[in-house]
Amino acid sequence: MTPDVRPLVAGNWKMNGTRAALDQIKAMAAGVDGPLAEKVDALICPPATLLYVATALSTDSPLMIGAQDCHQNAAGAHTGDISADMIADCFGTHVIVGHSERRSDHAETDHLVRAKAQAAHAADLTAIICIGETAEERKSGQTLDILKRQLALSVPDGATAEDTVIAYEPVWAIGTGLTPTVEDIEAAHAFMRAELASRFQAAGRTMRILYGGSVKPGNARELMAVENVDGALVGGASLKASDFLAIYNAYEALTA
Ligand code: PGA
Repeated sequence: MTPDVRPLVAGNWKMNGTRAALDQIKAMAAGVDGPLAEKVDALICPPATLLYVATALSTDSPLMIGAQDCHQNAAGAHTGDISADMIADCFGTHVIVGHSERRSDHAETDHLVRAKAQAAHAADLTAIICIGETAEERKSGQTLDILKRQLALSVPDGATAEDTVIAYEPVWAIGTGLTPTVEDIEAAHAFMRAELASRFQAAGRTMRILYGGSVKPGNARELMAVENVDGALVGGASLKASDFLAIYNAYEALTA
C-alpha cells in the first residue's frame, strides 16, 4: 500500500462472459456496497458486449465498470474496434490498455499503448496501463530494464494520479497460478514508484500501481499488503462474484 492512496481492485474478464454472467455483476455490485467502499475502489471490465448493461446494473452501487481496450483514434473506419468515447457513452469510467495479451495477440507496441492511453484521457476515462516482463526477460535479469522502458514509452506525458493507473503484470504470472515472491514484487513496485516520481513528481508519488497475475482470494491479503502495491488487476478470479469479493474484502483487515 502507499500512504494516502486509495486502493483499486479491478477485474478483467477478458473474452469471458455472456448475458448469463450478469448475475455475477449484480452480486458484485451488491457485495461492494458497504463501508469498505469509503476506502477501496472496485472495478469490473467485462467484454464490450456487456458494458452498457453492466453499468446499468451497477448505477446504485460503488462498483465501477470499464472496458478492456480502446482504439487510439476518436472515431472512423476501424472495423471491429471501439473508441474511448463509446466506452464513456456506456458510462464506463476506465479502460485497460496494453494488456500483455493485446501486446502479444495484436502486436501492440508501447507507442500504440501510449496513443490509446491518450485517447482514454481525451474521453475523460482513467487508463489502466499494463506493463510487465516475460519469463525470458526475467531469467536474463532484464525485469527492471523492461519496466523502465515500458513506463517511459507507454505512459503519456501529463499523466495524473487521477487519470492513470499502472498495472504491473509479469507475463509469466498471468493465468499460471505462479506469482513473484513478495520481495520481488516489493522491489519491482519500489522501482516503478521511483521512476514515476522522478518523471511526474507529486502525481507519480500517488499514481496507483496495481499488481496483477494469479491474484486469488488465498494470496490477496499478502500481496496487497506489499509497499507500493495499490490494488490488484485480477483475471480468472474476477469471474465469480464470491472470489472477486473475497479479494476486495482482503482490504478489510489491511485498512482497519
Ligand atoms: P489472472 O490474469 O489473474 O488470471 O492471472 C490477470 C490479468 O491478465 O489481468
